[in-house]
Amino acid sequence: MATIDRVFAGSIPEIYERFLVPLIFEPYARDLAGRLARTGPQHVLETAAGTGVLTRAIASRLPASANIVATDLNQPMLDHAAAQRPNDRRIAWRQADALALPFEDQEFDAVGCQFGVMFFPDRIQGYREARRVLKPGGSFFFNAWDRISENEFADVVTEALATLFPQDPPRFLARTPHGYHDAEKIRDELTAAGFAEISIDAADAISKAASPRDPAIAYCQGTPLRNEIEARDKSRLEEATTHAADALARRFGNGPVEGRIRAFVITAIR
Ligand SMILES: C[S@@+](CC[C@H](N)C(=O)[O-])C[C@H]1O[C@@H](n2cnc3c(N)ncnc32)[C@H](O)[C@@H]1O
Repeated sequence: MATIDRVFAGSIPEIYERFLVPLIFEPYARDLAGRLARTGPQHVLETAAGTGVLTRAIASRLPASANIVATDLNQPMLDHAAAQRPNDRRIAWRQADALALPFEDQEFDAVGCQFGVMFFPDRIQGYREARRVLKPGGSFFFNAWDRISENEFADVVTEALATLFPQDPPRFLARTPHGYHDAEKIRDELTAAGFAEISIDAADAISKAASPRDPAIAYCQGTPLRNEIEARDKSRLEEATTHAADALARRFGNGPVEGRIRAFVITAIR
């Protein structure tokens, strides 16, 4: 995976939270938080917490006695997350690489990670770390996107950008967020990390936006796809966004738009 794929900084966190979170992350955060909260954990670790959509969903389901340590590789994402939930003393925000967690063995009852594992350069190591910090019987809850063809807006944006940059198409969305969609591989890598009880569900949802321009901004400007576009030509970000919006409008119409999204939701018990 390109290093550029892991850089969520500059304008990305704000646009990510404003456009991408309501578009694709909120329904999966509700689902994952519900699964995690039903196990009644007191000490929860979240990795790759981003701007905190899952953190907020978990916090709203846990009692006052519980606590969450929400971590992410990129401090700018956590700064954005913390600013939105300033008064919740149950949440501690801390920069951390999910592949080298700064916590003792068996500290947590549950670990959650929403759409983060695709970004790990060594997933087995990330799974080993989640398992190491879990108490015996504790669970690791996470999700990962299905292939890009099952996620319509991302697919249309990627195809549109390939026509704008035909020599060197920006493939971030296909390569990384939608590049880890083999359920058997996920199971094998969890097993290699020491997890024994593993369940994997497919989960469909509908992505909705007020206009085709919103998903174009979300993907082109609020993800590391922006880094890839700007690496080709910094002055063409707006042109690329408009080109993607036009392609979305041709496929989904000019008014409010809806597209299919699909992910895998995984529970692994230590
Ligand atoms: C698609 S975002 C998901 C963020 C959040 N969980 C959500 O649902 O909106 C992926 C996140 O993974 C983080 N990330 C990438 N590599 C990481 C690593 N090695 N350890 C921890 N976080 C990582 C990025 O900073 C980014 O915030």
